[in-house]
Amino acid sequence: MTLIQPFVTEVDFLSGALSSPGYVIERKLSDMTEMYADRDEATRILTEEGDRLIYEVQGIELPAEEGQIPHCSTRILPGDIGGECHMTKGHYHARREQGEVYFGLSGRGLLLMQTEDGDTSELEMVAGSAAYVPPYWAHRTVNIGAEDFVFFSVWEARAGHDYGTIERDGFRKLIMLRDGEAVVVDNPKYG
Ligand SMILES: [Fe+2]
Repeated sequence: MTLIQPFVTEVDFLSGALSSPGYVIERKLSDMTEMYADRDEATRILTEEGDRLIYEVQGIELPAEEGQIPHCSTRILPGDIGGECHMTKGHYHARREQGEVYFGLSGRGLLLMQTEDGDTSELEMVAGSAAYVPPYWAHRTVNIGAEDFVFFSVWEARAGHDYGTIERDGFRKLIMLRDGEAVVVDNPKYG
């Protein structure tokens, strides 16, 4: 176990910016073109309108050791790709038995979850929502509002990230905008 000095980080609730991030990750449409249901529209946007920032993560780097508690903020920009709301890639934890806590800081979002057994869940999140991602649930967040959706995540250091399963199969549910409202629909391309 690495002995670390206690520290505090200031978090800007509107932007998700950390006072001293250990890392910053930008995810653009070009990083996840294949993850949107309407790939033709994603490709058209890339070609005709150019790349766009979908979400940004700012995090605290800690050793991947038992007992360490990494944490990060995520800001998802408002918008959609062919009607499908801007979203994170989403993942299972490599160690499926590890959970996570999400805390809403600003904006409106949905926490989309599923298990490998076929259960699905969609939880609304606003500023002040504390959502629990139990062990075994894949998780993706979606911006369903007109402003940035910003939230804070806390997990166990050894959880690890399995993005590959979602990149291959997708999520069972899609979050689509219909007349300005977010609706949950079955993903016809799942699996
Ligand atoms: Fe996670």
